Amino acid sequence: MSNQVGEQVEPQLPESINATLSRKGKSITFPKKGILGQSAAARGRTINGTIGIALDEQGQPMFLDGLAPMVDLPVTDVFPYASSFGKPELRHRWLQMILEKNSKLSAHQLSQPVVTNALTHGLSVAGSLFLDPCDPLVLADRFWGNYKLIFQHTYDAELKTYPTFDGDGFNVAGLLTTAQACPGNKVVLLLNFPNNPTGYTCTAAEANEIRESLVALAESGRDVVVLIDDAYFGLVYEDGVMKDSIFAWLADAHERLLAVKIDGSTKEDFAWGYRVGFLTFAFKGASASQLAILEDKAAATVRATISNASHVGQSLMLAAYNHPDYPKWKDSAYQQLWRRYETVRAVFRDHPEYAESFQPQPFNSGYFLCVKPIGIDAESVRVKLLEDFDAGVIAAGDLIRIAYSSVPCDDLPKLFQSIHLAIGSLA
Ligand SMILES: Cc1ncc(COP(=O)(O)O)c(C=O)c1O
Repeated sequence: MSNQVGEQVEPQLPESINATLSRKGKSITFPKKGILGQSAAARGRTINGTIGIALDEQGQPMFLDGLAPMVDLPVTDVFPYASSFGKPELRHRWLQMILEKNSKLSAHQLSQPVVTNALTHGLSVAGSLFLDPCDPLVLADRFWGNYKLIFQHTYDAELKTYPTFDGDGFNVAGLLTTAQACPGNKVVLLLNFPNNPTGYTCTAAEANEIRESLVALAESGRDVVVLIDDAYFGLVYEDGVMKDSIFAWLADAHERLLAVKIDGSTKEDFAWGYRVGFLTFAFKGASASQLAILEDKAAATVRATISNASHVGQSLMLAAYNHPDYPKWKDSAYQQLWRRYETVRAVFRDHPEYAESFQPQPFNSGYFLCVKPIGIDAESVRVKLLEDFDAGVIAAGDLIRIAYSSVPCDDLPKLFQSIHLAIGSLA
């Protein structure tokens, strides 16, 4: 990049986007010199003593004889380190897949995804980049409990919640007023659809309202960053519910609104243990070189925390994404979860008497649903189910969370009957 008199100038983030970064986020840059730079400079030389792994006499990565046959991939895709940015072919493929899965995004400039050690680590990298101690983080009050460890414990942020629902719908007004009430100019929000624990995804109309509210917030002069936890992306079971990620609504919403998509293979591709996740950035008017600054900061934070994500995990996921049968495999897994969802809906339809003992919360997607027990606390019901009904559920505050994703269809009617009977015996 050069200025009007032809001098080279470093690309810079727009002031309003830079203002969303934490102190650490502002200062961190990927080390281009040091060991990585010197190794890069030596690449291709006849003798190269810079690489921090062991090579055999032919210059191939060394490995223990028994390990290589355990994975059906070239050893070079398994044993050496992957880059802190992630495996380039996987980053490229995932970006392509984000665009395919989110038709609204086709015209937008996105960053290249940066690979993280799955979503928890991606969320933590985002916490490091955007949250200073005491910064508020605005989110719905039904949230994944681990956010407390990630954002509150690790980065000393303050979680500012609003009631998730307004009636049967998402509480967009609560989101906006809570965001407006944040002190200072910067506002950090977190959105998670399909939501853990409720299994709710907002409708397309609610997504429009969220976008309009956040644009109004940015328009009022606030610097806005929205962390989007897309762990359960794609598992939507009802018409009228948002199919694209909310990221697609926000990626090009405003020059003062940075959208950060945190997603990955964990739940979307049923590969929980592979630990492959991604961070992708977008804001209105972004240039590729500005987005590269954010990629650089994210990769530097990866380097600072885990050095780089599992190479074998990345290679296995890349092989799956490039396999001609991948869409078929995905559809089969989706159908299985969709059948569970339909089974639960049928149970509720067939047993109106359950409404006397618990109230289902709005749900339409993902792995979970929640019910609110009537006349008794959720923890007592959980314990009763363990002791007398041989069944396990999660008590989350005043709600019982049921992971129907993990219960065979045939057991679902019995599970809800047990919850009904347990509450009946306690209340
Ligand atoms: C909403 C949400 N985000 C992120 C994660 C973490 O995903 P990962 O296993 O990829 O770290 C979970 C896991 O339960 C989750 O429910």
